[in-house]
Amino acid sequence: MSDDDSYRDSYRDISVHKMMLMDVVRTEAYERALRQMVKPGHKVLDFGCGTAVLSMFAARFGADTVYAVDRSAFITAARAIAMANHIENIRFYHDDHTSLVLPEPVDVLVSEWMGHFIFHEAMLEPLVFLRNRYLRPGGVMIPDQIRFIAGFVTDESFYEELCFFRQNPYGIDFSPVAEAPLYQTNLEFFTPSQISKTLVDLGSMDLYVVDATPEVLEGAARPKRKETVYGLAGWFSARLTPNICLETGPNDPPTHWNQMFFPFKEPLTLDPAREVTVRIRPPKPIGKGEDTWSWTVTDGSTLIQMDDEYPFDPIATVGLLGA
Ligand SMILES: C[S@@+](CC[C@H](N)C(=O)[O-])C[C@H]1O[C@@H](n2cnc3c(N)ncnc32)[C@H](O)[C@@H]1O
Repeated sequence: MSDDDSYRDSYRDISVHKMMLMDVVRTEAYERALRQMVKPGHKVLDFGCGTAVLSMFAARFGADTVYAVDRSAFITAARAIAMANHIENIRFYHDDHTSLVLPEPVDVLVSEWMGHFIFHEAMLEPLVFLRNRYLRPGGVMIPDQIRFIAGFVTDESFYEELCFFRQNPYGIDFSPVAEAPLYQTNLEFFTPSQISKTLVDLGSMDLYVVDATPEVLEGAARPKRKETVYGLAGWFSARLTPNICLETGPNDPPTHWNQMFFPFKEPLTLDPAREVTVRIRPPKPIGKGEDTWSWTVTDGSTLIQMDDEYPFDPIATVGLLGA
């Protein structure tokens, strides 16, 4: 890794790992999945091993060899943790997915690679790269499928907070930036009462065959009743095995992923007479195009189009001020 990369290596910090391991819903779901899928003699690749918690589960459930891979300098701590637990069949690789060289294909590829609303950490392409290179034919992916869901936010307070600058706080006209907060995604923890019963299925991704970040997540639903909504909440369900799913929605036990809030610039009234269509464009992987979210919702009569690159150009404004 370059100095620049290590500077940006947020996974050096124990607090990030503590936060993930304190997410019992997440960690125990992976533990159950590994207990079900790892068979004695298996070779397992743990991509992005962090503390090596998943590697140690795999070793505990009978794996012959576990290849634990992480580009973070924290891997030194992971190795020490495995030694403290007297586990000797984990081989550690301080590598990026591109530099990794394993001696053999694996039976199981496990990874907790999912960022906020999946695409925030851009680990999908590296995972696909390693799957293509190292998963033996008929091998197992954990997770093997991701489903995307959007709900409509009915609680006005989330919207009101984002409209703060519209009220000229302190008697100052903030209009040049007043709309900007509405164009940003935010992580929120929604309760079931803050989300409409009308949910939109945005489709799913099969991790055995997917080869790139999808261009767009799209789905439609017939509203169950007339109601005013202020934005979208996006979350995912990760299928770890055919009968173990890790759910991250407002109706599920909380996880560290929360939900992603995609606000609207103006409220929208859902009407059972009009089917509503949602489109969410994820950011492109690093260096491959727009790295911002964009989202639209339409019921055929109203179209709300949002892009988390707010159409306010500070450079142009400075230019104007200087003229
Ligand atoms: C979400 S954490 C999961 C950590 C651990 N598996 C767990 O479940 O607690 C993702 C890990 O992947 C590593 N990582 C991200 N991208 C990587 C890449 N391209 N190559 C190697 N490691 C990567 C990060 O350094 C981080 O430790």
